[in-house]
Amino acid sequence: MRILVTGATGQIGSELTLVLRERYGGDAVIAAGHRKPASAALASSGPFVSLDVANRDALARVIQEHGIETVYHLAAVLSATGEQHPQRAWDVNVNGLYNLLELARESGIRQIFYPSSIAVFGPRTPRDRTPQDTVLSPTTMYGVTKVTGELLCDYYAHRFGLDIRGLRYPGIISSETPPGGGTTDYAVEMFYLAVEGKPYTCFVREDTMLPMMFMPDCLQAALDLMEAPEAKLRYRTYNLSAMSFTAGELAAEIRKHVPGFRVEYVPDFRQAIADSWPRSIDDSAARADWGWKPRYGLSEMVAEMLAALSRRRAAGCLYPTG
Ligand code: SER
Repeated sequence: MRILVTGATGQIGSELTLVLRERYGGDAVIAAGHRKPASAALASSGPFVSLDVANRDALARVIQEHGIETVYHLAAVLSATGEQHPQRAWDVNVNGLYNLLELARESGIRQIFYPSSIAVFGPRTPRDRTPQDTVLSPTTMYGVTKVTGELLCDYYAHRFGLDIRGLRYPGIISSETPPGGGTTDYAVEMFYLAVEGKPYTCFVREDTMLPMMFMPDCLQAALDLMEAPEAKLRYRTYNLSAMSFTAGELAAEIRKHVPGFRVEYVPDFRQAIADSWPRSIDDSAARADWGWKPRYGLSEMVAEMLAALSRRRAAGCLYPTG
């Protein structure tokens, strides 16, 4: 199996690529990104190609040269950057996906993984235990591109018989590669400041509650969904949930390990984005159809995050360089 991971240097891609290489072999998994891999593990474990997914010819060359059969299409501009650069967000998120779907239709690509997001929901969507089937009326360009992406995937699947599977990820928390340009980034940034013994200025209010997930669950969900028997899948893109907490609750949990950790709340434009998203998600369809079950709640996640970042800090590499 020859696999392409787009967005491979990003928060999810940098870890998913390594997991896929362990399973399928280093040379079988081509990492593609628009910047160089920051981690030595990513750079040394298999091939890397520099790629902008909005450039169809470049994407076509990579797919053809490497005989790609499966694609984890993670390249995207996230919600906060998307509000600052809406045209770029459309170009990367929608045209990039469209390029991939068109090339998949014409080539030997058999399976595609597409990460959607809680950003597909909007102010008119029920905010608590948001159902699988509900109003998709986002107010951010990022959300607009993800709804468009879900619809495009549906269309290409039923019209051209492609096997495309997706997850509406909540905010992802991880210690390897920091996220970039998302609204849920505060939930990761808080840990970095805490392990450095510094106060954190949080860009959403203390009472802001959003659905979140720890990276091991995020990776497991992608692998499990891609391996699930197609006949069991009632949906193409599934709601996914693990935990929900407010910014204040996260700070309080961190304080159990780092007494005296201080957080100041100074909301900026990202508050309005957070306020338009669900507080919690109903993922019962994922649980019923392909056995989804998260392993991490708030306390386990916080303990592991602080341990991992403390190790990185002690080794002098808290922030990845590259
Ligand atoms: N974490 C993402 C963001 O904040 C949501 O998909 O943009």
